[in-house]
Amino acid sequence: MEQRARPWFSNRPGWCGVGCTRRGAASLAASQELVFAGPAGALCPGRAAAGAGVAGFARAGNAVLALAPDPDIRSAILSGWTDASRDGRRFILSLEPKVLWAMGVLLLLALAAREVRRLVRRRRKHDYALVHPTAGSITARAGQSILEALRVASIPHASVCGGRARCTTCRVRVGAGFEHLPAPEKIEATALARIGAGDNVRLACQTRPSRDLHITPLLPANASAADAQRPGGVGGHEQSVAVMFVDLRASTKLGEERLPYDVVFILNLFFAEMSEALRETRGHYAQFSGDGLMALYGLESDMATGCRDAMRGAVAMTRRLAALNDRLAGELKDRLQIGIGIHCGEAIVGTMGPPSSPNLSAIGDNINIAARLEAQCKTYGVTLVVSKQAAGHAGVDLSSFDLHQAPVRGREEAVVVYAVPDPSAISELQAESTDVDSQRSAISDDPIV
Ligand code: FES
Repeated sequence: MEQRARPWFSNRPGWCGVGCTRRGAASLAASQELVFAGPAGALCPGRAAAGAGVAGFARAGNAVLALAPDPDIRSAILSGWTDASRDGRRFILSLEPKVLWAMGVLLLLALAAREVRRLVRRRRKHDYALVHPTAGSITARAGQSILEALRVASIPHASVCGGRARCTTCRVRVGAGFEHLPAPEKIEATALARIGAGDNVRLACQTRPSRDLHITPLLPANASAADAQRPGGVGGHEQSVAVMFVDLRASTKLGEERLPYDVVFILNLFFAEMSEALRETRGHYAQFSGDGLMALYGLESDMATGCRDAMRGAVAMTRRLAALNDRLAGELKDRLQIGIGIHCGEAIVGTMGPPSSPNLSAIGDNINIAARLEAQCKTYGVTLVVSKQAAGHAGVDLSSFDLHQAPVRGREEAVVVYAVPDPSAISELQAESTDVDSQRSAISDDPIV
């Protein structure tokens, strides 16, 4: 058999001799050319490189041994050594331990350099731990944003705009570690200001911590862009707000007199009008009950603007209700009536409620007072009871209306209030409500069904 050496390993399939492909193995078996061929089969050269290398070395040794008895080959192999001088041979033999030492030192240096590089990298950029309320603690790579770290860990998190600081759905409340965070860049600060976020709220897509951090997502992972637009949805913070409670009077009687379908129909018309009044006066629903609602004003503005908007809201509601009563004149025995209570002050505002349907709301002493003022409407026989404090912030002169010391359950001090029989009579708010008037007349012309 003619024996012809080929390279042991090759980049070309079928040429390496280990048999990295079936074609290669078949060609080896067919040609019978290779002396040092590895076992033909399905082994990949990459995976079998180490083992095949040792096997090839052994085979080469065997082949040399097989050739050794031939005197011509042996003298050819040894000619360089036998022809060398005595000093030359001694020099060659003295090299062996030096070369081995040099290789050992180089190997150690390479390993040490690798370790030093790893330590330097770690010192320059710290990985950080991210503590999530439901997923626990995860390790995030240095330089990763909170959102990137959550994604790598397969923790669902809202990010409607894909991390471009446009939607704010990725916002999180930061707990421990907040003090180590870098200040928000302009793009993040602008987005946070737009939603009136609290100081400890950050966008997960823009924040790149360098130290351990505790976070709480403020919107569900499947939040939509619309969810993000709800002001105050920032997990709870103290804020000055104006609060309004509205109640539809005699709703129980309405339910007794009419079929359930009719009651629902009338209530839907009523809530449609109230919600329009809120929308046009910058109010936000906080709660809907069966026959009433709670609204917050001033979430994106100051207290004075919020109180003034709330007063405008009361005017708009009264006018819209009057228009609705006119439309339902043939349907209703008694005209629909409402009671409105308005107060202002500090409250805890935030997204509250079950995780599947959180809602912007507020809690606190001032919220309770507003609810009590609404109940006082019955006592004074009026449509609106507004605290003197809220009227003062609004800059509206209500001195022509009755002033009362309204007792509030749970408080020792009474609240000074104005009792306003018809809010649409508040002259200072007339001009600002002209758009309501025009809409009301347009509504009046519409058929009911
Ligand atoms: S993902 Fe939209 S602002 Fe962060």
